[in-house]
Amino acid sequence: MIDFHNHILPNMDDGSKSLEMSLSMLRSAAEQGITDIVNTVHFQHPKVDGKDISFEACQPVLNALQAESDKAGFGIKLHLGAEVFYLPNLLDITDNPLVTFGGGKYMLIEFLTHHIPSTQRQVLFDLKMKGITPIIAHPERYRPVQEDMELVRRWIRSGCLIQVDAGSLTGALGKSAQHTATEIVKLDLCQVLGSDAHDDHHRNFVISDALQICEKLIGNRAQTLVESNPLKVLNGEPIVIDLDEDSRPKEKFYMKWIRKSRKK
Ligand SMILES: [Fe+2]
Repeated sequence: MIDFHNHILPNMDDGSKSLEMSLSMLRSAAEQGITDIVNTVHFQHPKVDGKDISFEACQPVLNALQAESDKAGFGIKLHLGAEVFYLPNLLDITDNPLVTFGGGKYMLIEFLTHHIPSTQRQVLFDLKMKGITPIIAHPERYRPVQEDMELVRRWIRSGCLIQVDAGSLTGALGKSAQHTATEIVKLDLCQVLGSDAHDDHHRNFVISDALQICEKLIGNRAQTLVESNPLKVLNGEPIVIDLDEDSRPKEKFYMKWIRKSRKK
């Protein structure tokens, strides 16, 4: 299994606080059968303001952690990457080797949970035109998506991929995220699952629990979210999505309830 989203490098962002914590997280990942971990350090996010989040700074930390992991016999390969905070500058940073995957073919992009800027449509389109497929990080945690799932379909129609957090599916990130994540997976709108692990306690790797939930929702296809699809991203191979517009469901009761209760 591949975990495509986590903050396992020690002392780089708001993720792991120490080498010991990273090793504890790796132990948990190994126990779940994870063989590849794609570190996605926060890049140009306000929470890493003033920190050196660069390829040159992250690579040696990753190499040192890989050596410790090998020493412990975890059997896990670490990959370097980033979770890019959305700013209208995305086209200007594509040469940075930290911010894309698969030889420059994919970029993982996150937004603030309460606001998705209107500029994103054009910027993501321009990225796609440049040959870089945007992967939208944990859309189920964004309030505008919780209120209107059509945003997810719009991203997919414009060529983006969708990555859901394992902790959203298990309920660790709140009820709204859990219900929205469940809908996204159930409707086959998710291509990649990630733990978004930040520590060895409340936000650890919970990929195996989330995978079981996905298997109940979409059967064997769940495996693609943690195996073939993230592998294609790492290899820079295309992922074809068959968006079934006819299966668009009526708005679920829970979504209506969220929308109404927020208007009060
Ligand atoms: Fe993250």
